[in-house]
Amino acid sequence: MNILGIETSCDETSAAILVDGAVRSNVVSSQRCHGDFGGVVPELASREHERLIVSIVDTALKEANITKNELDVIAATAGPGLIGAVMVGLCFAEGLAWALGKPFIPVNHVEAHIFSPFISDEASARKPEGDFVSLTVSGGHTMLSVVHQDLSYEVIGRTIDDAAGEAFDKTGKMLGLGYPAGPVIDRLAKDGDPAFHRFPRALTASSQTSRSYRGNFDFSFSGLKTSVLTWLGQHEQEHIERHLADIAASIQDAIVSVLVGKTIAAALLHRVSAVSVAGGVSANSGLRAAMGEACRKHGLELYIPDIAYSTDNAAMIATMAGLMIDRGRVRGNAYDAAPFARFTPAG
Ligand code: KG4
Ligand code: ZN
Repeated sequence: MNILGIETSCDETSAAILVDGAVRSNVVSSQRCHGDFGGVVPELASREHERLIVSIVDTALKEANITKNELDVIAATAGPGLIGAVMVGLCFAEGLAWALGKPFIPVNHVEAHIFSPFISDEASARKPEGDFVSLTVSGGHTMLSVVHQDLSYEVIGRTIDDAAGEAFDKTGKMLGLGYPAGPVIDRLAKDGDPAFHRFPRALTASSQTSRSYRGNFDFSFSGLKTSVLTWLGQHEQEHIERHLADIAASIQDAIVSVLVGKTIAAALLHRVSAVSVAGGVSANSGLRAAMGEACRKHGLELYIPDIAYSTDNAAMIATMAGLMIDRGRVRGNAYDAAPFARFTPAG
């Protein structure tokens, strides 16, 4: 079965081809027009998607050595995301599917991240076989879910303010690291001392606001943001510049330790044998290392997709559509599926 997946929910224009469950091509174009604005500008994002969508889809087809007529199914992100950006990919995909007379499957972007451990370059790649706990961490989402093989899942924790990616980006912006600052903090942190300054870790056992660590899987990163701003205001520019790597390492440590602590606690509480991390922040080398170590310590299997499949990409959209077909979760031809901006868990 040949599936074309399309993703345009934020600032990546992407198309991928899945052949019998394995990724044959995954073309991703990351928009560079937002850097000067310190964040994604929705209108610019939509225009860029519109400019690129036809050629990205063509390239994905060519790389997979497949023609439009050989497609069996077309899938695209229907949300959540920037509504105008989502609409470009969704309308294009619905129109293409309708014109070719092929079925169209709308895909939930967050669910595609959750099920990204199932993305494979080879149909035989290692995949979770039972229930697992998924940590979804991106610029827009921070979420813990208990996930089942029939594609159902329960969200057990979410951020009550900023997403983990936003925590990286906003604190990095305060340090003058540009946008997105997550990868820059990651790079700087490698040469820094994480114990340089202890920034707050909200809603954990050690924080005063939480009564029970094991019962609270929600996240909060706005206090960290305020704390970094306050700390920067209290120190000389020269001191800050000299210790940039140490500050980056300390910020990263504050974010990573909360993410790892809650994920492991959730896995133990829900008695699953595997953990997965998905979304753009899963590219963070500190998070990968700390989660790897914690999983080894607790005998948990760990699934973190390749970086190409953890930041926004269409391979995860095509894979999700394939899983939906496989698990009997597709209802009819949805040529008129509507775009949506916000995430509501399907359960
Ligand atoms: O999943 P994604 O590509 O797009 C969204 O759906 O948001 O995630 C983008 C987020 C940004 O906040 C970016 O700073 C963060 O992922 N990110 C990282 C790293 N690479 C990307 N954060 C920390 N360390 C990284 N290496
Ligand atoms: Zn995403």
